[in-house]
Amino acid sequence: MSLPKVVITRPLPEAGLSQLREQVQLVENKKDRPMQRTELLEAVQDAHGVIGLLTDRIDAEFFDAAPKLVGYANYAVGYDNIDVTEATRRGIPVSNTPDVLTRATAELAWGLLFAVARRIVETDGVMRSGHWPGWGPMQYMGMDVSGRTLGIVGAGRIGTAMALMSRGFDMPVLYLESPSGRRNQILESKVNAQCVSWEELLQRSDFVSVHCPLTPATRHLFDRRAFRKMKNSAILINTARGPVIKEDDLVAALREGDIAGAGLDVYEKEPVMADGLAALQQAVLLPHVGSATHTTREAMAELAARNLLAMLHGTVPPTCLNP
Ligand code: DGY
Repeated sequence: MSLPKVVITRPLPEAGLSQLREQVQLVENKKDRPMQRTELLEAVQDAHGVIGLLTDRIDAEFFDAAPKLVGYANYAVGYDNIDVTEATRRGIPVSNTPDVLTRATAELAWGLLFAVARRIVETDGVMRSGHWPGWGPMQYMGMDVSGRTLGIVGAGRIGTAMALMSRGFDMPVLYLESPSGRRNQILESKVNAQCVSWEELLQRSDFVSVHCPLTPATRHLFDRRAFRKMKNSAILINTARGPVIKEDDLVAALREGDIAGAGLDVYEKEPVMADGLAALQQAVLLPHVGSATHTTREAMAELAARNLLAMLHGTVPPTCLNP
């Protein structure tokens, strides 16, 4: 009996894939770049399963190109690249990789927060340039973190982890009320977090950290109007999805002092950035590395593989996205 064929759209950590290798015929894109659309559609023609990335668009056209497909596993927690409704309509299970990357992503959000607040990248540049004249009382002053107010937009798994990590810094925590009105009991009981409106969160936060998914409702949530409501001293951190921020408006807001700084790991049109962003010293810019630790990326591969194997066996995958 021939083994089911599984396409992996980009090289993934081997550690997660051994179980899959034993049970399926793996067809791996060996090039470390996203597959072109035509390459992808051709590769999945006779695939029973696919493990893909946030850069692969999983929509009606994709499903049409893969008539034998019994399941799709996303190698990411975010799944704005998947048309889940279409998958469900066709009876195709789809999955993502939650939990395993929660702490790594929250840790990186903290890394960005400190890097912007304490001008870490900028001052590292001073040292490397050989232009540091020696210690001076008026040099390179930044912003305190301890005791300042942290605003969480998207108090799901990663937003909650980020907020819980603030305990060492005695920060008042605000979080945005969810569209369903459901309160985050963990945050309220463990860090005394306050559930507030959008306006209040913008007005009161010293640091605003974005952790919401990208949906039609959150696209361009942060635009010029939002920046004007924030404190001039505020710092915005985004480790979620780029299009939640209207990037041109962010550049204008930073240039004109609506807010003081930004730490970004994600961009509106990856891999490019809005014009002018790279020139702004008050922005720290990372190449979408929130989950990029060895153990996290291995755990993501392992979970994606487990999801796909479950789908191939006709059982419900551990982290299924279909309702
Ligand atoms: C995700 O998982 O959604 C990240 O953006 C990549 O790890």
